[in-house]
Amino acid sequence: MQILMAAAEGLPFIKSGGLADVIGSLPFELTKKGHEVRVVLPLYLKIAQKHHQDFHLEKQFCIDINYRQAQVNIWATMVKDVKFYFVEHQGYFERESMYGYDDDGERFAYYQRAIVEMLNQLNYFPQIIHSHDWHTGMIPALCKETHGFDERYRNIRHVYTIHNLAYQGNFGPEMLNSCLGLEWRVFDNGNVRYDGGISFMKSGILYADKVTTVSPSYAQEILTPQYGEHLEAVLEMRKYDLWGIVNGIDIEDWNPKTDREIPYNFNKVNVIKKKKQCKNALQKEMGLEVKDDVMMVGVVSRLTWQKGFYLLMEQLSEICRMPIQLVVLGSGEAEIETKMVQLEEGNKGRIVFYRGYNESLAHRIYAASDLFLMPSLFEPCGISQLISMRYGTLPLVRETGGLRDTVDPYNEYEHSGNGFSFANYNSGEMIQVLWNAIHVYYDCPKNWKELVKNAMNTDVSWEKSAQIYDQLYHSLW
Ligand code: ADP
Ligand code: GLC
Repeated sequence: MQILMAAAEGLPFIKSGGLADVIGSLPFELTKKGHEVRVVLPLYLKIAQKHHQDFHLEKQFCIDINYRQAQVNIWATMVKDVKFYFVEHQGYFERESMYGYDDDGERFAYYQRAIVEMLNQLNYFPQIIHSHDWHTGMIPALCKETHGFDERYRNIRHVYTIHNLAYQGNFGPEMLNSCLGLEWRVFDNGNVRYDGGISFMKSGILYADKVTTVSPSYAQEILTPQYGEHLEAVLEMRKYDLWGIVNGIDIEDWNPKTDREIPYNFNKVNVIKKKKQCKNALQKEMGLEVKDDVMMVGVVSRLTWQKGFYLLMEQLSEICRMPIQLVVLGSGEAEIETKMVQLEEGNKGRIVFYRGYNESLAHRIYAASDLFLMPSLFEPCGISQLISMRYGTLPLVRETGGLRDTVDPYNEYEHSGNGFSFANYNSGEMIQVLWNAIHVYYDCPKNWKELVKNAMNTDVSWEKSAQIYDQLYHSLW
């Protein structure tokens, strides 16, 4: 089948979180199954600066947006056997960041209308458009409502994947006609209406032929008020078309045997010894006390409430008493960043906080850590715990969403598990499990070794999930 994936970020070009990991790996897995997959992304400043010389101009045209004409330049390049398109507009996308601007609604309305018109301009009509998250949630509605008279558009089937229901793309109603070119009818009948305005996320859920999210547990959770982010009733209407398919990772990019970003490569046999060497190297790099008999706990994350940082903050004094070293890499909410800076200052040599985004350092943290902490409030899937397991780093997670589906908690009687977990969003529970992990690490090294082996034996590849996407695509007719 011909499949076009539309998203707001994707590797190997740009990344802020797990969405980019998915867009950078799933298309390649699907091509292995015989599909012809193309990907479209916005041409952000950072992509243009780094890659522009590798792209060729495929098409230029204009679209109407906000009562004026806007130019669209479509650039393209091949990455292995996947074609990537880039939508260029200097005003909308050549900015410092990807998201977080007052006119994000207009920017991504432009992006989606440019994609829809691109199909016509290139005379490329895939059988399936697979859109991801709110930034591309309007594409099914645009194809069906504004182009429904054209059977080339009408024949396209739409899959919409929710990576995070908390970010919905909700905007004022005035955008509907001016930016999206849709009729008021779809506001009046409720299809895109949300809380007096419009919602890209809701529209994607209602107009797509199939809706997916990134783990079976999250697919269940979002039908409840606790996780539904006020869209649970809308999702309930689509529940028979809602699939939960867990993410994988690119096991070539994330491979401790060949990873060029880490100082000592390792495999299942020599992991314990080599991890210590990686740990020593990271301790030197980050200014931590250099010793290999200390348990290192790593965090690589967006610093947001979603990731459970409030649980950590409630227990800072307890964490400071623990016989561990803590390495945190991330950026995000100011309150969390400030707390992390203070924590580091009070615990020099034991706790270190690197504020920012750093892919290379992330690899070294995954490789050097013994435990990876991810006590999320909610987690649609989570990529970090999968990477951790691949590097023999045991994840300690809250049993929610994809964390529940991918981490099998340690069972001391059965000697089973590939990590640690706790059930409730409660800092006391988290601390109890953390103490237990510390106990196993120091007092039962044989058991720890077994868990590390189990983690590294866990299948975190796309193999099984790509198969399910394949079934999903076939179920569209
Ligand atoms: P989310 O997409 O919600 O942020 P995931 O666990 O799905 O969470 O994916 C996060 C991805 O982003 C992982 O690949 C992780 O290694 C990476 N990442 C997060 N923060 C940083 C950072 N500060 N520097 C480098 N990589 C990061
Ligand atoms: C979102 C979710 C994360 C998921 C990622 C990729 O960012 O927060 O849980 O792994 O998307 O699907």
